[in-house]
Amino acid sequence: MSPSTELLIQAQGLNTYYGASHILRDLSFTVARGETIGLMGRNGMGKSTLLKSIMGLVKPRSGQVNITGRAMTGRSPYEVSRLGIAYVPEGRGIFGNLSVRENLQMAARAGTRGQRDWTYERVLETFPRLTERLHHGGQQLSGGEQQMLTIGRALMTNPDVLILDEATEGLAPLIAREIWRICGLIRESGISSVIVDKNWKHVTQISNRNVILVKGQVAFEGGSEQLRTNPALLDQYLGV
Ligand SMILES: Nc1ncnc2c1ncn2[C@@H]1O[C@H](COP(=O)(O)OP(=O)(O)OP(=O)(O)O)[C@@H](O)[C@H]1O
Ligand SMILES: [Mg+2]
Repeated sequence: MSPSTELLIQAQGLNTYYGASHILRDLSFTVARGETIGLMGRNGMGKSTLLKSIMGLVKPRSGQVNITGRAMTGRSPYEVSRLGIAYVPEGRGIFGNLSVRENLQMAARAGTRGQRDWTYERVLETFPRLTERLHHGGQQLSGGEQQMLTIGRALMTNPDVLILDEATEGLAPLIAREIWRICGLIRESGISSVIVDKNWKHVTQISNRNVILVKGQVAFEGGSEQLRTNPALLDQYLGV
């Protein structure tokens, strides 16, 4: 990393437990400005727990989470999001009784540097499907459309980092492809992202750094080429 690298997220030495189960084991993880990070690993390895520990949804027993240099360990998800971190969790969190338009507009705000790059209009340009369903209630949307709405809502907050946990899970291939296209647009717009996804091929097409977790520890960290050209790594850590 160059001296000018701006660390947006810096998690250091995290140990996170659920009851007596020790999930994250002295885990460190960073996100610099401009990075697109693929976070991978088999089921149950701790990917979502890492994201929740960063967001303040789960409190690590030890270790630190710094967001843009501020100590945020164990602070509320609301406070973390105010520092420019947008989080799209597994499953979908939209307001079913509000329309697509309302869901998007209520999320609107300027980013941490006052940036308003992602406006309502730009989000709709990015998601043509949502434009066709502006007045539908959230509960009337298909799974893929709900996922797009969740990502659209996150973009409306003009984040510095967008965290996507299994955004393509359970979606038809065409819709999943649409989500990947949008991930590319997000990267081009300069937003850093952390992408958790089972499809390592898609992940490595878009990521510039990849982290693989095994039992709550970093087992691999490296560029996409290194991972793509190394079947032994894929087999060992992802079981593909
Ligand atoms: N709320 C919880 N209470 C107790 N154990 C949990 C809880 N959430 C997750 N776990 C356990 O913690 C471990 C890590 O789970 P986590 O959800 O972080 O994995 P993951 O890498 O995101 O997996 P997946 O790919 O299946 O989403 C798993 O063994 C899981 O069963
Ligand atoms: Mg998970």
